[in-house]
Amino acid sequence: MELYIENLHKKYDDKTILDIPRLKIQEGKITGITGLNGSGKSTLLNIIGGIDKEFEGSIRYNGKLLNKEIATNMTYVFQKPYLFRRKVYDNIAYPLKLRKVNKDRIEKAVQEILERLEITDLVNKKGHKLSGGESQKVALARALIFEPKLLLLDEPTSNIDPESIKVLEREIVRFNKETNGTVLIVTHNLNQAKRICDDIIYLSFGRVGN
Ligand SMILES: Nc1ncnc2c1ncn2[C@@H]1O[C@H](COP(=O)(O)OP(=O)(O)O)[C@@H](O)[C@H]1O
Ligand SMILES: [Mg+2]
Repeated sequence: MELYIENLHKKYDDKTILDIPRLKIQEGKITGITGLNGSGKSTLLNIIGGIDKEFEGSIRYNGKLLNKEIATNMTYVFQKPYLFRRKVYDNIAYPLKLRKVNKDRIEKAVQEILERLEITDLVNKKGHKLSGGESQKVALARALIFEPKLLLLDEPTSNIDPESIKVLEREIVRFNKETNGTVLIVTHNLNQAKRICDDIIYLSFGRVGN
């Protein structure tokens, strides 16, 4: 999904948080958003993800304003993911259940994504009893499983150990290559951005710089 942002202004109280006259995010690429704490990265992702509707300007998704079909094809993995108080299996299966995929295919897909992310040992644990890093892995699995056209990730490896970071980065890249899904990843880790992103956007006090 291609994104086109025009005249985006966002304020909290009287303070300008985002000021982006024009920004294009290419379809089928991995784009990183980086910048210091408080530069507006999460705010921008919340707006693109349709969670924050209080802004001026427009965001176009393949030329269209956000609608139900676009929302169905995009997903947002929060920095602190929200998981259901159910087994990891059910958490990951949920997007496919919602889309009425049959049970056999769901089982196969869940198994495959668990193996890819190297988290098969978590399958029967309860979502709300996982550590921060485990939750991030499960949330990524739940996002990847339905092959969204647009994947929004906010600091997806912030709580993750170096070994697992490699696995997650590998699977984000694999998802992008195999499905051509567009990925927008917020990370304050410039090295991570350089490792996996095709393009990098630098935010500084709510403005795009370089
Ligand atoms: N709900 C809110 N009310 C007021 N200010 C906010 C709110 N959310 C974020 N901010 C402010 O907006 C700025 C950008 O925040 P954020 O987008 O979370 O930054 P980043 O993700 O780059 O660290 C910060 O100065 C933050 O304090
Ligand atoms: Mg943030």
